[in-house]
Amino acid sequence: MYRKVKGTLLIDAKNLEKAEGGIKKAAALLRQGGLVAFPTETVYGLGASAYSGEGVEKIFRAKGRPPDNPLIVHLDRLDTLQDLAVDIPSHTWLLAARFWPGPLTLVLKKSPRVPLEVTAGLETVALRMPLHPVALALIREAGFPLAAPSANLSGRPSPTRVEHVVEDLAGKVKIILDGGSCLVGLESTVLDITGEKPLLLRPGAVTLEELQEVLGEVEIPPDLSYKDRAAPSPGLKYRHYAPRAPMFLVEGSRDQMAEKMKEICRERRERGEKVGLLVSRENQDLFEGEVVEVLGPRNHPAEMAARLFYALRRLDSLGVDFILAETFEEKGIGLALMNRLRKAASGRVIKGGK
Ligand code: TXA
Ligand code: MG
Repeated sequence: MYRKVKGTLLIDAKNLEKAEGGIKKAAALLRQGGLVAFPTETVYGLGASAYSGEGVEKIFRAKGRPPDNPLIVHLDRLDTLQDLAVDIPSHTWLLAARFWPGPLTLVLKKSPRVPLEVTAGLETVALRMPLHPVALALIREAGFPLAAPSANLSGRPSPTRVEHVVEDLAGKVKIILDGGSCLVGLESTVLDITGEKPLLLRPGAVTLEELQEVLGEVEIPPDLSYKDRAAPSPGLKYRHYAPRAPMFLVEGSRDQMAEKMKEICRERRERGEKVGLLVSRENQDLFEGEVVEVLGPRNHPAEMAARLFYALRRLDSLGVDFILAETFEEKGIGLALMNRLRKAASGRVIKGGK
């Protein structure tokens, strides 16, 4: 049940009933102002009490997170919303009823109870009720909401498996709860509802189309990869989800993409470089002999999304010098998948067929 890595206690929480003791231990640590990494349905989070400015500062230190990037506060029941936010617009309740618990984060006006350390000085706060039973049990047991960013070192791909958390944070936090692989595998959708029109700050598994069904109009900033420093969501301007090797996206028809990728593989190999490819299952066979990470079937973008961060970390561990990735339709969860791919590639795109 328990294992130690570099002094960090790794607690098996894959079976909720058996994990009761471990969750109690983790909650006790949170009450003392400590940090706990825990699974959610999106990615692993690194939590501290949302009411403790000091606890929250430890999160920033452990991750090496820029101090102007605010955190998401996780709650386990709807009542808590009114402790955390003020001037709550009526459609908040509609959104919560439809999508909570689940991968939707709502930005609202913050209540005075939320320390400015959580919001990086902003007067707004990001809130979400996660779907994962371990996350919900941990918040309930702790007795307060948890401020938690993704449990990776700042700049690295978000952790979707416990090994990723261990890789980044063992020795830096006291407890990691192991909930196995994260089902969604991409961070939550972030929606700002403080303005006149709802604004999609980060696409995720709650899709734009689903939000439009509930809200009608949703504003989408023109460039969801936010390379621009004037980005509305403070966290989005940073290099994110990025593998160590430089990465490029390849656009075009299936044949154009494949041809371009093979051509670049040849060129790079001649220069003595090791190229890694991120491709769909359908195209896997086209690249025999190359270093390939398969995301999943093209017609199942949720499966590809769930595997993306794992695949990026795999390519890093294989020591590739250069990464090429296929591109996908930006519809449904495909919008979030492409947003993370674009960020990992720092917006660099090569067009096939030229
Ligand atoms: O799925 C998730 O959201 C995961 C799990 C752990 O819940 N968490 C996560 O946290 O991805 P993090 O810190 O990696 O991303 C939080 C995002 C950042 O882009 C941040 O800028 C944005 O939410 N954010 C937080 N507070 C905000 C605010 N008040 N206004 C605008 N954006 C905010
Ligand atoms: Mg993050």
